[in-house]
Amino acid sequence: MIPVFREIQEWSSLRDGAFNGKTVGFVPTMGGLHEGHCSLIRRSLAENDVTVASIFLNRNQFNSAADFESYPANFEQDLALLQDLGIDAVFAPHYETMYPDNFTYVVKETSESKPMEGAERPGHFDGVLTVVLKLLNVLGPDRAYFGEKDYQQLRLVKGMVRAFFLSVEIVACETVRANDGLALSSRNRRLSHHARALSSKFPQILNTAADPEEAIRELEKAGFDVEYVEDKDGRRYGAIRLEGVRLIDNFTLRSLRKVGG
Ligand code: PAF
Repeated sequence: MIPVFREIQEWSSLRDGAFNGKTVGFVPTMGGLHEGHCSLIRRSLAENDVTVASIFLNRNQFNSAADFESYPANFEQDLALLQDLGIDAVFAPHYETMYPDNFTYVVKETSESKPMEGAERPGHFDGVLTVVLKLLNVLGPDRAYFGEKDYQQLRLVKGMVRAFFLSVEIVACETVRANDGLALSSRNRRLSHHARALSSKFPQILNTAADPEEAIRELEKAGFDVEYVEDKDGRRYGAIRLEGVRLIDNFTLRSLRKVGG
C-alpha cells in the first residue's frame, strides 16, 4: 500500500527518512483522476527518484457552490489508480490542515489572472495560486507537473514561482486528448451521451477557425454557449458550456505552427 498522509508532519518524516537525499516530483490534483493526470504522474516517475501526488478538492478555487459540489471525485478509485501507477506517496490533507488561517491569507496576481478564466470565474486564481503555494511549501519538491489544458493556470503558477523565488521547476505537460480530440477533463464525466458526442466539435472549431470571431460564430451554431474565445501570446484559448458543463481548451495558433514548421 502507498503511504497516504494527511498531516504535514508525516511528510517531514518521510522526507527526512525513506526519501532522504532523493529527488521529488510532485503532481497536484483535486481527485477525479483520468488519463491526463496519469500522463503527468508517469512523467514525474520517469524524471524523479520519488513521486508524490496530492488529492485535495480545494473549495477556495470554486466560485460556484454547484460546481464544487458536482466535482466528480472518488477517493478510493483515485487511490487504486495511483497505486497501479507506482506512486510513492499521496498527500490528502483536510481543509483545516491546508487553511489554518481559513483562507484569510491569499496570493493575488493582478494582471494575467484578470481576463478569460479570471473574468468568468472571479477569485478562481486567488484560490489556485494560494493552494499551489501552500502545497509547494509543504512538500518542497524539485519538480512539479502541470497540464497545458489549463494553460492560463500554468502561466500563472510559473509566474508565481518566479515572483516569490521558489526553488522548484514547473514542468508543462502536453494536453491528453480522447480519440475524437476532446481534451480529457474530470468534468467530461458529467456530459450526457449526446453532449459528449457533440463536444468534439469544440476543439475542432477552436483549432481551425480563422479568428476568434469566426470561432464564436461556429461554436454557437454547433450548439455551445460560448464564454470566451481569445487569441493571446500566440495561443488561442476558449471556454464553453454544454448542458451546463464547462469545458476549456487552448491551442498554439495555426499561423505560428506553420512558421515553426
Ligand atoms: O489543476 C488543478 O487540478 C488544480 O487547479 C490544482 C493545480 C490541483 C490546484 O488545486
